Amino acid sequence: MMPASQLLAFNLLAAAMLVGSVAGFASSARADTAKLVRYGEHLSQECTTCHRRDGVDNGIPSILGMKSEDFEETLKYYKTGARDNPAMVSVAQSLDDDQIKALGAYFATLVPAGK
Ligand code: HEC
Repeated sequence: MMPASQLLAFNLLAAAMLVGSVAGFASSARADTAKLVRYGEHLSQECTTCHRRDGVDNGIPSILGMKSEDFEETLKYYKTGARDNPAMVSVAQSLDDDQIKALGAYFATLVPAGK
């Protein structure tokens, strides 16, 4: 048996290590998201020639603030032809899964004007 004081020190050490690793994980996840969003912003220049940056629907639907899961799913529909708008099919087919994920992360951060 360890003396009580030694046991306490051991527990504190274990707790500190646990907190440290959880905090490290959370901050690296945040850094990854930030990187993804920046990549998506870069890629979005191709999209905003048609989709307006201010969220106004001018005959082309706004994609600002779309939930990233819905966004990814929709682009996959265009990619497979389940949705067959020719402009979007060719856009979606030029993107790989990482790029779709990055674009989804980016557009999800945007809030349409007036909302
Ligand atoms: C040439 C013009 C054009 C470009 C460029 C373009 N889009 Fe589109 N997009 C459209 C049109 C038109 C629609 C509506 C098509 C339909 O009815 O299915 C659409 C629809 C969408 C939708 C579905 C919206 C909804 O509410 O159903 C998403 C998501 C989307 N586009 C994302 C993108 C992304 C991301 C890019 C850039 C990588 C992009 N688009 C580039 C014209 C364009």
